[in-house]
Amino acid sequence: MPLRILTAGESHGPALTAIIEGLPAGLHLDREAMDHQLARRQRGYGRGGRMQIESDRTEITSGLRFGVTLGSPLTLTIANRDRENWRERMAVWEGSDDDPVRVPRPGHADLAGALKYGHRDLRSVLERASARETATRVAVGAVLRQLLAEFGIWIGGHVIRTGMAATGDSFRTLPADNRKQYETLIRDLCGRAAESDVGCGDPETAEMMKKEIDNAMAAGDSLGGVFETAALGVPAGLGSNGMWDRRLDAAIGAAMMSIPGIKAVEIGLGTEAASLPGSRVHDPILSAAPPFPGRGSNNAGGIEGGISNGQPLIVRAAMKPIPTLTGPLPSVNIETGEKTGAHRERSDVCAVPAAEVVGEAMLAIALADALIERTGGDSLDRMKRGLDI
Ligand SMILES: Cc1cc2nc3c(=O)[nH]c(=O)nc-3n(C[C@H](O)[C@H](O)[C@H](O)COP(=O)(O)O)c2cc1C
Repeated sequence: MPLRILTAGESHGPALTAIIEGLPAGLHLDREAMDHQLARRQRGYGRGGRMQIESDRTEITSGLRFGVTLGSPLTLTIANRDRENWRERMAVWEGSDDDPVRVPRPGHADLAGALKYGHRDLRSVLERASARETATRVAVGAVLRQLLAEFGIWIGGHVIRTGMAATGDSFRTLPADNRKQYETLIRDLCGRAAESDVGCGDPETAEMMKKEIDNAMAAGDSLGGVFETAALGVPAGLGSNGMWDRRLDAAIGAAMMSIPGIKAVEIGLGTEAASLPGSRVHDPILSAAPPFPGRGSNNAGGIEGGISNGQPLIVRAAMKPIPTLTGPLPSVNIETGEKTGAHRERSDVCAVPAAEVVGEAMLAIALADALIERTGGDSLDRMKRGLDI
């Protein structure tokens, strides 16, 4: 894949870092747009105290000159303001921790990570396993969204379930036979969701979601949920049927599944398609002319045969409940073997609205990679000339 991305950084280390290699030259970056995406990730009813401490901003230390990409690796850094409280316990050189974490949280990386790396202080696992890491993904996504926008590609999303509270509003049920109207309806849904602190544009369901979160918080419990992500303006021809690792659905699936806590990803109708006859699933072809082939519906979610088909991309992802509980589940001290309640760390009760923003970033990464592959990369001009359909 032409785009190479590395991220690094512990939750309470000095900073988070990302390097993007393979970005074309000639892309004007808007700094405000990047910080706007980071602020969106920090939103959400049911988030923990950490989000009040951090107010993320991106510093760029390579790959940019006068606000324009050079084609060389772009390095992004986000400072951890909470670092001040952790200087001793998370020191890079000399330091000490008089309160090591010994009791793994069921559902988090603590136990599996300790077994893998041999750590006896679980903090050495959980600092990187913390979803603080997703701030770098959102920063990378914020750069790549600007690249995609040069090609008329737009990404948005909304939350459709928090615990048992769910809305019937879905990209899946919107009429897709009139392209302009379909795209307007998708944008409207996302626009309404952006106003909501649970990421849901249906006010009645949003209230129910908040109640679910309040109840979970009062019970020392946590919640997961489901979000949908859409990409508009995606040209036909991204990805390939030719080999499994070049399929666009596989790339999007991997990108979304890599978000901490995501346990299922669907494209288009997803699992629902398995119980319906073909006549009700497959989208009639009404005209084949690019750039907007006419289809009667979009149950395929914009991908057929691993290739984008010119329709909006529709993705859904399900997140498990947050593993850190204030009413902790049974666990075991890994040093003494004593049975006790799992470790508690300052935590979100529900992070689905934030995960939705991370989902948009991951979709941007998968699409930008496929677009650079399709168009040759190197410079923005060359990419635009390379897109000949
Ligand atoms: C944006 C975001 C915020 C999260 N916040 C927390 C949190 O505060 N506490 C927690 O225990 N898990 C949180 N999680 C979930 C854990 O990161 C996730 O459940 C954990 O990594 C294990 O999931 P996995 O088995 O899918 O890797 C968050 C996830 C995301 C995407």
